Amino acid sequence: MHLAHLRLREFRNYRRLDVDFQPGLHLFLGNNAQGKTNVLEAIYLLATLRSFRGIGSAQMVRHGQKGFFVGAHLISQGEHEIKMYWSSQERKLTLDANPVQKLSDYFGVLRAVVFCTEDLQLVKGPASRRRRLLDLLLAQTHPTYLPLLQRYTKVLRSRNILLKQRTTDEAALESFTHELVNTGNQLLRYRHELLPRLVPLVRLAYRQIAGDHEELRLEYQPSIKLDFAVELAQSRSREKMFRSTLIGPHRDDVRLLLADQSAAQFASEGQKRSIAISLKIAQAEYLTDIHGTPPILLVDDIMGELDVNRRNGFLPLLRTVHQARSQVFMTATEENWSPEEGRELVRWEVQAGTLRPISGS
Ligand SMILES: Nc1ncnc2c1ncn2[C@@H]1O[C@H](COP(=O)(O)OP(=O)(O)OP(=O)(O)O)[C@@H](O)[C@H]1O
Ligand SMILES: [Mg+2]
Repeated sequence: MHLAHLRLREFRNYRRLDVDFQPGLHLFLGNNAQGKTNVLEAIYLLATLRSFRGIGSAQMVRHGQKGFFVGAHLISQGEHEIKMYWSSQERKLTLDANPVQKLSDYFGVLRAVVFCTEDLQLVKGPASRRRRLLDLLLAQTHPTYLPLLQRYTKVLRSRNILLKQRTTDEAALESFTHELVNTGNQLLRYRHELLPRLVPLVRLAYRQIAGDHEELRLEYQPSIKLDFAVELAQSRSREKMFRSTLIGPHRDDVRLLLADQSAAQFASEGQKRSIAISLKIAQAEYLTDIHGTPPILLVDDIMGELDVNRRNGFLPLLRTVHQARSQVFMTATEENWSPEEGRELVRWEVQAGTLRPISGS
């Protein structure tokens, strides 16, 4: 799969951008604050309808403008045209000129995995960060997952509103509980299926990246041990106290352990970074396994941060992507690739919201 054309209008610091990309490894070079990450953000936005910077769409509108446009021509088994317009009044998303009615029809058309400094939060941050990774991966591989998650989130919210009222409407609570258990059990089934397939990929990636003698372990910690309905009923008295739904897939975690100790608490900064990257490499490998073609990789800044050994652990994935004629988009302020590694790179200069190929690259 590759992004053959990207079009931006009034997106971040880009007034207008029209650019063609070949398959392969692309390196965006430029000083700070020129717009390197913004391009990756636009591509990621098309893939997931979210920014990887964890912010809302309003911030992506170029200052002083009403809305932004991001469009792409995509070549995979077939060809696709994606167009997205966002303003505070109006949102439009079309795939091959048809408005997207259901997100499940859209997800998976453009698959991307991002590597960025924020990834460290997968290790250091709250459980919600790790759940989000599972959710994204499941949404990228099962069209039915996202609508299911949205249903669960909606019913969870309604149920919590009910629990906050002074007198509980028992009949309504009963019906929300029924729906929560039903959708929740389906989510759990997906997660229970995913984890045993993902874990070996993460461990292998960690071994490659860190060259560490310490073993990385992942432990899925579902909030529900055996039976959602039973355990929810058992939590009723605590629910009354906290006025909120205390158990369910929204409370799942994946613990990361290095030499049997919590990585968040005991791993060094370097080890944490290696774990974060391993999780992302595993995401990319998993998508490649399932779909038969690698996703587009968006690598923001991190190559410069990696020492030679860690970089060598990353290179096989870049090579796979390259050989499959997919794409990698990387950013850097300075190129620090050896001539051998850098042979295949297509270099771009990014300057004040413009992008131009560096000739001879
Ligand atoms: N909504 C917006 N409108 C106009 N400019 C914006 C908007 N959002 C961000 N910018 C500007 O875009 C510029 C480039 O941002 P970007 O994060 O892409 O830089 P970068 O090239 O990745 O830099 P670095 O090397 O520091 O990571 C910044 O100067 C920022 O102020
Ligand atoms: Mg940047």
